[in-house]
Amino acid sequence: MSVLEKMSSAEAIALENKYGAHNYHPLPVVLSRGEGVYVWDVEGKKYYDFLSAYSAVNQGHCHPKIVGAMIEQAQTLTLTSRAFYNDKLGIYEEYITKYFGFDKVLPMNTGAEAVETAVKLCRKWAYEKKGINENEAQIIVCDGNFHGRTTTIISFSNDENARKNFGPYTAGFIKIAYDDIDALEKAITSSKNIAGFLVEPIQGEAGVYVPAEGYLAKAKALCEANNVLFIADEVQTGIARTGSLLAVCGNCSCENKCEKQGSYVNPDILILGKALSGGAYPVSAVLANDAIMNVIKPGQHGSTFGGNPIAGAVAIAAMDVVNEEHLAQNARRLGKIFREELAKYIETSNIATLVRGKGLLNAVVINDTEESDTAWNICLALRDNGLLAKPTHGNIIRFAPPLVMNEEQLLDCVSIIIKTLKQFEK
Ligand SMILES: Cc1ncc(COP(=O)(O)O)c(C=O)c1O
Repeated sequence: MSVLEKMSSAEAIALENKYGAHNYHPLPVVLSRGEGVYVWDVEGKKYYDFLSAYSAVNQGHCHPKIVGAMIEQAQTLTLTSRAFYNDKLGIYEEYITKYFGFDKVLPMNTGAEAVETAVKLCRKWAYEKKGINENEAQIIVCDGNFHGRTTTIISFSNDENARKNFGPYTAGFIKIAYDDIDALEKAITSSKNIAGFLVEPIQGEAGVYVPAEGYLAKAKALCEANNVLFIADEVQTGIARTGSLLAVCGNCSCENKCEKQGSYVNPDILILGKALSGGAYPVSAVLANDAIMNVIKPGQHGSTFGGNPIAGAVAIAAMDVVNEEHLAQNARRLGKIFREELAKYIETSNIATLVRGKGLLNAVVINDTEESDTAWNICLALRDNGLLAKPTHGNIIRFAPPLVMNEEQLLDCVSIIIKTLKQFEK
């Protein structure tokens, strides 16, 4: 079948099943168009997107400014590789480092690649600056983490489905409980070989777990006191998703990284991906100051596509949109309404037990076992009612719409969600 032919949902699903590896279990809906907070399936049915491609489409589908920048750059120069300089990379590097307040950026493509980059950077810093003996560096990670799917990253996952039969695993990681400052202190002080602490400021994939107020600041202070790098993986939580530019911004909702309000926790290494391009193109980044980033020398890390001109042009446009359209403030305001409305319903519901989250990264916990298919069936019913969302783990449904949503649309979505949950009350 040609890609130009119109096909039904059933035909598109059958094609994927036959010719594609079965490494995903998508909700049965076949999308062919997106605009802002909406997507349309091949039969023309319109839906609210309440997943945003796992928080990549924060700026909304096919944002004209981002698409315009991409088209213009694609017609001019797409890829040079880093064998040569290009006239966009330096401009992007200056823009993004100033935007987030770091000396340097190392550009990559996907989130997992950026996490791998951060791990390598941290290890090299540990050997060359901290003086840890070669091959002995340890990085502390958290139970329930999700940092991607590469061999090294799944080595420190505790999701058996992600790990089983993919060994042997990469050594050099110590796992501790998330949101447990005593566990971190114990691990950090247990050995001279601790190089870094890699953490998601909110655990998205695990089910949107928000740590206790002050956890990140205390973790950073412990890292600083022990000459350990604090590495924030903001691939999912970053770029305004949680109601501030970064989730490590804490209670600050200004448009840029802001240390004024005292709630900003300054990562030594910041990892970004997903919405860095507004979902238009794979763009990820690792940011750090010179004292750390300068340990990387030519030939020691890279990627053919990392730092390509399209990526640079797209990321600048995507980050401009975050500021121009005040997406952090909107996420903060609408997120509060979302949780308040859902919490009111949950008080009297026997199908939903809890709503939690920050900004527009939220989850609703369904009153059934992790192994049950209730959350999946609710997502099928949500789809039938015109809203797309997906369970993260078993009985938890993540709700993360594009941040360009307005209040009227959000309230419409809340009523769809409540109406659907009511269909499942016992
Ligand atoms: C926190 C976090 N880190 C890393 C990744 C991996 O990103 P990618 O799928 O682009 O490799 C994800 C993806 O969901 C993520 O949520």
